[in-house]
Amino acid sequence: MTQPLVDPFQRAITYLRVSVTDRCDFRCVYCMAENMTFLPKKELLTLEELDRMCSTFVRLGVRKLRITGGEPLVRRDIMTFFRSMSRHLDSGALEELTLTTNGSQLERFAADLYAAGVRRVNVSLDTLDEEKFARVTRWGRLPQVLRGLDAAQAAGLKVKLNAVALKGFNEDEVETLTRFCATRGMDLTWIEVMPMGDLGNEDRVGQYWSMKDLRARLSESYTLTDLPESTGGPARYVRLEETGQKIGFITPLSHNFCESCNRVRMTCTGELYMCLGQEDMMDLRPALRNHPGNDAPLEQAIRQAIGLKPEGHDFDYSRQRADGQVSRHMSHTGG
Ligand code: GTP
Ligand code: 5AD
Ligand code: SF4
Repeated sequence: MTQPLVDPFQRAITYLRVSVTDRCDFRCVYCMAENMTFLPKKELLTLEELDRMCSTFVRLGVRKLRITGGEPLVRRDIMTFFRSMSRHLDSGALEELTLTTNGSQLERFAADLYAAGVRRVNVSLDTLDEEKFARVTRWGRLPQVLRGLDAAQAAGLKVKLNAVALKGFNEDEVETLTRFCATRGMDLTWIEVMPMGDLGNEDRVGQYWSMKDLRARLSESYTLTDLPESTGGPARYVRLEETGQKIGFITPLSHNFCESCNRVRMTCTGELYMCLGQEDMMDLRPALRNHPGNDAPLEQAIRQAIGLKPEGHDFDYSRQRADGQVSRHMSHTGG
């Protein structure tokens, strides 16, 4: 029997996040620089190579596959890949096939995603104000995303919103976003902004708004009850007694959740990153490309990479930028 993937800290690796493109139709200020240089298309793994990579991980015990980007739905012909991955759901090898998206293309793809076996999507949405939305995404249009949310729900997909908490930007929208989600039966998770990518003119430290403060803001209007369960992700949840709704908090900075980490991330060029907040990585592409038709070297490379997984991340706003900051952009490793 195939040995499962276990890292040096005895954590089983059962969750793979795969970035299928570094491109995006938005340029969120905390994620990308305005003028990004994207990878030449020939650098990307082909859809067939992505399939081979993911299928190898599934064979090694990965149970949850989350497709990310950039924006995964701007990759050409990406539905072919989703449809192909659904065979692992049908066989029972994979428990969940899902994606994190900015929602801009959901109107077009929601029904096809459902048909491919996707049941849940996480949609990034930080504000319900059109002008602020255009500012944070640099040119995104909110109505397009709202139509995407409607299409996703109409197709039967369960939707979770991810909002990055930004001081001075969406502090005043805690209530609005909560009500929006309550009315539509959507989950909502808040994320602390992480120091990734070149800061440029963006003041990421000044933007940082801790979950402790956000929670305090929320408890001005609602009664919060801590929920013990986890979805196998880093979020911790509370229930709002007044609405019955679940709200998640992802707190990489103020409380890290590394001890229960179950995931690794693959970039669209086949580099495997062991942690979002560390530079440890292994390029799996040679093992893939140099051995067509033989997955043994790839399996071996994956095991070797997992053996490098660090105990935890190094994000830290209290230190100097040079060592508390990860130089990759979030779009490179897929959030
Ligand atoms: P579910 O629990 O399945 O809903 O997914 P998730 O929360 O793992 O996925 P999602 O894409 O919604 O994650 C939200 C964001 O949380 C990511 O985009 C990252 O910004 C952050 N995040 C997720 N996993 C990690 C992690 O392992 N470390 C850190 N530091 N942040 C993470
Ligand atoms: N800090 C926190 N979250 C981020 N995301 C992108 N960049 C950052 C950052 N610097 C989030 C997006 C999306 C997910 C993929 O990652 O909003 O929800
Ligand atoms: Fe695109 Fe998501 Fe990054 Fe925004 S956060 S630029 S939507 S990849």
